[in-house]
Amino acid sequence: MSTALKDSYNRPIRDLRVSLTDRCNFRCFYCLPHGEPPIAPKEQMLSYEEIEYVCDIFVSLGIEKIRLTGGEPMMRRDIETIIDKLALLKPQGLQDLALTTNGYFLPDRAQGLKDAGLDRITISVDSLKPETFKQMTGVDVLDRVLAGIAAAKKAGLEPIKINAVIVRGHNEDEVADFAAFAREHDVKMRFIEFMPLDSGHDWSRTDVVSGREIRERINERFELTPIDVARGSETSSRYRFTDGAPGEIGIIAPVTEAFCGACSRIRLTADGQIRTCLFSTVEHSLRDVVRLGGSRAEIIDFIRGVVLKKEPRHYINEPQFVAPSRSMSFIGG
Ligand code: GTP
Ligand code: 5AD
Ligand code: SF4
Repeated sequence: MSTALKDSYNRPIRDLRVSLTDRCNFRCFYCLPHGEPPIAPKEQMLSYEEIEYVCDIFVSLGIEKIRLTGGEPMMRRDIETIIDKLALLKPQGLQDLALTTNGYFLPDRAQGLKDAGLDRITISVDSLKPETFKQMTGVDVLDRVLAGIAAAKKAGLEPIKINAVIVRGHNEDEVADFAAFAREHDVKMRFIEFMPLDSGHDWSRTDVVSGREIRERINERFELTPIDVARGSETSSRYRFTDGAPGEIGIIAPVTEAFCGACSRIRLTADGQIRTCLFSTVEHSLRDVVRLGGSRAEIIDFIRGVVLKKEPRHYINEPQFVAPSRSMSFIGG
């Protein structure tokens, strides 16, 4: 293996997040509230062969975790093939192949994902109340998503993580209910601070429910004990229930407790652009290098050069902050 990827701040880059499509069948107001943005033409999207090829190169450069994201990655018809191909990279150093999904397609397809070689899954659920779920996501499908969680469990796509973006005035009253859900279903419940990545650019600081408030809301009902492991490059601070109940709590607080210092992540968009930060304002076209016939060595040089441009951190809390023009539905979370 060639030497592992490192950025100019000496952070090893071990995690690659690959967006498979910018399309989504939900309309979450914190992401894609006003419908679909211009969808990249099909010919600009990476084919599964191209994804397989570049991921093979990334793994040879020390990438250990690949997370498939979207839009909604299960809207891509060849997702099982992609997983099948990426799973072949395990003997070469890929340790973890995961997927972030809204859960809609899981009732019928969870087992197929497992059979293709997916290790684990993260499902977004922003409310356990049908009305609020519909108001936050634009679709009235809470029951189907809950059935999706059950199907993922049955298929053994574990550990199952549930993501909830907590937004003031929408679902902060459900934080302790989500913790109860984690205990009952033995899942890792993760609470995420609302970030300025919505396509409507309606984010406001007053909408952010801080990680600290989330912890306090849970502690009112269930006492939490911090899990005493080195956090490394993880996004969440993790807690278990002090009474020994199953399940786990993770708090992802990029706005009030930024975790950029140990960031190990880079991203590849569905149209083949490398983004070195969730908040990057520039992208680097790996697609062009590949399609213009770059050799493997040239592609590796390109990736190394791009990684050196990785931003030190985000600037959400500074006056000069500019939200990226592409919403989370394109970047993939
Ligand atoms: P695992 O630890 O591998 O399970 O994944 P993860 O913690 O990266 O989880 P996931 O992909 O589910 O990300 C959860 C959420 O954290 C995302 O939806 C984003 O909202 C946020 N997030 C993930 N990566 C980053 C990051 O690099 N920077 C910031 N600011 N937020 C991130
Ligand atoms: N702030 C925080 N998290 C977000 N996600 C999407 N948009 C935002 C935002 N503005 C999260 C969703 C999903 C993942 C793909 O990204 O909860 O879990
Ligand atoms: Fe990494 Fe950028 Fe996220 Fe900070 S904001 S953790 S640097 S991707």
